[in-house]
Amino acid sequence: MEMTQWTVLVNFFVLSLEILQSTSNKLDNCKPVSYPKSCKELLHLYGCLPDGLYILSSSSGATYLTFCDMTTNGGGWTLVASIHENNMYGKCTVGDRWSSQQENNQNVPEGDGSWSNKVTFGTVEAATSDDFKNPGYYEITAQDMSVWHVPNELSVDQWKEKSIFRYHTENNFLNQYGGNLYNLYKAYPVRYKAGACKTNNGPSSPIVYDHGNAGSLPKFYGPSTTIEYEPGYISFRAFNNEQAALALCSGVKPVGCNVEHICIGGGGFFPEGGGRQCGDFAGFDWDGYGTHNGWSASKEITESVVMLFYR
Ligand code: G3P
Ligand code: CA
Ligand code: CA
Ligand code: CA
Repeated sequence: MEMTQWTVLVNFFVLSLEILQSTSNKLDNCKPVSYPKSCKELLHLYGCLPDGLYILSSSSGATYLTFCDMTTNGGGWTLVASIHENNMYGKCTVGDRWSSQQENNQNVPEGDGSWSNKVTFGTVEAATSDDFKNPGYYEITAQDMSVWHVPNELSVDQWKEKSIFRYHTENNFLNQYGGNLYNLYKAYPVRYKAGACKTNNGPSSPIVYDHGNAGSLPKFYGPSTTIEYEPGYISFRAFNNEQAALALCSGVKPVGCNVEHICIGGGGFFPEGGGRQCGDFAGFDWDGYGTHNGWSASKEITESVVMLFYR
């Protein structure tokens, strides 16, 4: 090899080394793009923000869009789920993600298992038109919950104003149950025959209303249910007379055993009525769809989603 060829070769190596070095320097100084993990974190960063849609990140770095309530009681509430009944006549059929999409089946006692798994579904913009569950449901460590009942099909900007009820807890109850519902339901499985009514129900927390009040509950749940609950609470995992498991009783603490008319979500098997109570809104139509007779809920509550927020 001639001298000039050697010089070219050496220069090439020096240049390559410099490029390598400068790239690694760049990487050293390079900060990854990061998004907050919750609306609470985001609000702390900015001090003050309007309600609306924001991008959050899960711990793996996957981002997702959700709604932040940045104003109620100091704000910082992350929407993590909505429970929507798409077809009250469909009994544990397509769309019954918070109970079972696998028919009323004793051999699938936990149904789809959505309360205690990491499967996510839906989008925030369709949260009043379908079920919604994002990574915040199982990843955020929260102290309190807020719940909104919002009529179906409303757009994001209408949710708050047109909601039927809005309330929150303020006793940090989630601290005792692993900081979120995923962990709470691991401890209190929503599974047929995992317990019996009244004796094995999960926890209840008192609530504070932000819109509406406990006095209007009888307008929404069926008249026969008034002896079945104590108002002013949110309750988790309640069993009925036949040991079917219901997941969430919004606005109430069950004191009776016909909880299928005041609680939503559940496992995959509801013995009473040959499967008529199997679905996201369980037995809300026991005495007719939206009739508000006997055990039936009103049309307004049957056609509203239940949105779950963490803070
Ligand atoms: O959950 C209500 C059911 O157990 C009794 O229904 O129709 O006999 O009053 P019914
Ligand atoms: Ca259904
Ligand atoms: Ca549903
Ligand atoms: Ca019953």
